[in-house]
Amino acid sequence: MSSEPRRQMHLNLFLMSVGHHEAAWRHPQSQPERHTDIRYYQELAQAAERAKFDSVFLADGLATWGRAAHSIVGGLEPFTFLAAVSAVTEKIGLIGTVSTTYNEPFHVARKFASLDHISGGRAGWNIVTSGGEMEAQNFNKEEHLHHHLRYQRAAEFLEVATSLWDSWDDDARLFDKASGAFADPEKVRAIEHKGEWFGVKGPLNVPRPPQGHPVLVQAGASDDGREFAARYAEAIFTAQQTLEDAQEFYRDVKTRAQKYGRDPDAIKILPGIGATIGATEAEAREKEEYLHSFINFDRGMGMLSFLLKQDISQIDLDGPVPPFPPIEEVNGMKSRTQLVDELARRENLTVRQLIKRLAGGRGHRTFAGTATQVADQLEEWFTKGAADGFNVMPPLLPGGLNEFAEGVIPELQRRGLFRTEYAGSTLREHYGLSRPRNRFEASSQSERGGENI
Ligand SMILES: Cc1cc2nc3c(=O)[nH]c(=O)nc-3n(C[C@H](O)[C@H](O)[C@H](O)COP(=O)(O)O)c2cc1C
Repeated sequence: MSSEPRRQMHLNLFLMSVGHHEAAWRHPQSQPERHTDIRYYQELAQAAERAKFDSVFLADGLATWGRAAHSIVGGLEPFTFLAAVSAVTEKIGLIGTVSTTYNEPFHVARKFASLDHISGGRAGWNIVTSGGEMEAQNFNKEEHLHHHLRYQRAAEFLEVATSLWDSWDDDARLFDKASGAFADPEKVRAIEHKGEWFGVKGPLNVPRPPQGHPVLVQAGASDDGREFAARYAEAIFTAQQTLEDAQEFYRDVKTRAQKYGRDPDAIKILPGIGATIGATEAEAREKEEYLHSFINFDRGMGMLSFLLKQDISQIDLDGPVPPFPPIEEVNGMKSRTQLVDELARRENLTVRQLIKRLAGGRGHRTFAGTATQVADQLEEWFTKGAADGFNVMPPLLPGGLNEFAEGVIPELQRRGLFRTEYAGSTLREHYGLSRPRNRFEASSQSERGGENI
């Protein structure tokens, strides 16, 4: 075996009830009745930990989008979920999605600080600004806040949350029973934030998290989304269909990061991959087609109508895809709408073909092949400046995870591209990210805290 290269890829398991294929719940092997059973997710996270994944990730939305008739919608709330998963795992990182549009920073900073303490430094926050009106309507609003303003609010949200985590010095607590000093009052401070969106006095009512700050993850890819990611994100989940698009995104975000004085290597870019794995390529394609056979095309038309902003339920399934609205008019997920539009045009897809292409991963890249072919694909993107790792999105769970763990991961390990053992214990250590300095500390206390990273 050749000696291990210095750079290894990072793998995140994107947990999604019974799988990422929209019709996975109808597959004979899936267990949709377990989608609110925490033991099911604990088993998945334990399997991912045995395979040495960096992290598991739970997405979250604040509505059901009227889709309950034909899709698995709704599920467990991320903090409750990840705290329960942390109790049965030891190493794997735990990334949860929380919206900056429909939350207050004090609450969110507190919950992530708690999760980081509970898990011994394994928490990560997928920062989202939320995608639509239906979420707004659950929070006293008729309309979704404008895209640009959502990112402005998110930036201030992040300033407040990170300040709150820093409101305690790492060594603020003294536990001095003899003198009766629990904490040094000089080291627990108010943040006195008064901004456009938030007024927060502080300090936080949870001591500084073990990681300093939980790992900051982001998934937006519009111009505002990229700027936000370049400024704050330490890991980025992204949907990319082609090597060229992924390379452009990778280059662009890392270049933008330098403007903020950041080291481009301190941002890990993880495109999604929905791999259907078979003993042969033909078997993998057959498995993929079998899953497609459960697609409900009415539902698919509904999803496309949502993106197209027009009712296409009466349109010919085998006809061309109607034009998408101009991107300036999209107030929800801009970059995803653009990606789907480009996919349909580039490959000249009919409505039926587009629905099938989106079924496996909602716009993320899907691939059917042998474990070796999947490893080849990942290696290509990893070595050609398109990815620092991948967001693994099995079309069917738990089977797709097992196939990835038993086939693709050993192949990547043989090539020296993936760890065979965890080197550290925190999520920051897995991703090779340094522990953030405490902005309020005069001493080099927090740098000292970074020495084991
Ligand atoms: C892998 C991935 C996971 C995402 N998970 C969520 C999620 O759980 N909740 C959510 O509201 N948005 C989620 N998003 C959407 C993004 O936060 C963002 O709104 C979307 O990518 C569009 O970004 P843009 O508005 O900057 O174009 C996710 C996106 C990606 C690529």
